[in-house]
Amino acid sequence: MSDRPQQVVINSPLDMHLHFREGAMAQTVIPLSSYSFAGGVIMPNLVPAVNNLERLTGYLQEIKSIVGDDVFQPYMTVFFKDYSYEELEQFKPHILGIKLYPAGVTTNSEDGVAALDRVETTIKYMEELEIPLLVHGETHGFVLDREKLFLPIFEHLANKFPRLKIIMEHITTAEAVALLDRYENIFATVTLHHLIITLDDLAGGLLRPHLFCKPIAKRPEDREALLKAAIAAHPKLMFGSDSAPHPIDKKEACGCAAGIFTAPIALAALAELFAKHNALDRLQAFVSDNAQKIYDIIPPQKFITLESIPFKVPATYGDVVPMFAEREISWSITKLF
Ligand code: NCD
Ligand code: ZN
Repeated sequence: MSDRPQQVVINSPLDMHLHFREGAMAQTVIPLSSYSFAGGVIMPNLVPAVNNLERLTGYLQEIKSIVGDDVFQPYMTVFFKDYSYEELEQFKPHILGIKLYPAGVTTNSEDGVAALDRVETTIKYMEELEIPLLVHGETHGFVLDREKLFLPIFEHLANKFPRLKIIMEHITTAEAVALLDRYENIFATVTLHHLIITLDDLAGGLLRPHLFCKPIAKRPEDREALLKAAIAAHPKLMFGSDSAPHPIDKKEACGCAAGIFTAPIALAALAELFAKHNALDRLQAFVSDNAQKIYDIIPPQKFITLESIPFKVPATYGDVVPMFAEREISWSITKLF
């Protein structure tokens, strides 16, 4: 065997679930995504939430000014609430979808939906206007079962609004993977970390706050089902990092904030993972082509070369600790054009 490094070139990688925050944190994290990805779906759970046109356009301006000359398309979302048809019409040219959070299930979701049956008029309008619905699918049940308990709500929505594109965000269970094949209008994103870790990595030994996120990592059989679908490039599954930075003092705290910061390591770690499973030829579909087809988008062109050359993950980026801090990933980004 030659000892030349293995190599893969990805055209226009996309991160279909991404938290950029605002202000100083945005200055730290945005360049790390805009460097290696060609676009990303930007989550609206700021304080206050992105839920009106002024806030949306202001946030987009801030992102664009930080992206600068990098080739990177921010695909914006707004925070779901009971919107009128006119409001939705105004949003439509500026957004890729609307993100629904059940009230209180995760970071900055206090103003989310408390009773889904009371907001179905807005969902119906979204179906009419062909605006995708992105959902954080967790209930307030027992923490390991929250996603599973939410799945009947996805089924209800899929049946009631058959022309609505519904995206189950950051799925973590084998049951959610199975749902993809049962409903034509249900799609999903999956993170890097849920393909790699289980609850054991977070809490099986010493508690690892930098691996704590919502939804919480699950059982080995769940991770296996997610991984199997990802490395097969299941056409209804897209990569979405759910990279969710919090300052170190909010993570290494009594009352640790939920969120894992993966943006700067995501592509290298995915290449390592896909190489390990002899699936490098499917990475392009998983990190770009599937999303382009599902959302009917054409991202800017950007070629990223990844090679099996080790990369030592820094301890911190600004005041954020990344996943795999100070560890080595056996792949790295070697060229961009
Ligand atoms: C996200 C955050 O910090 O904004 N946290 C997380 O644990 N994933 C919110 C979310 O996507 O749930
Ligand atoms: Zn998220």
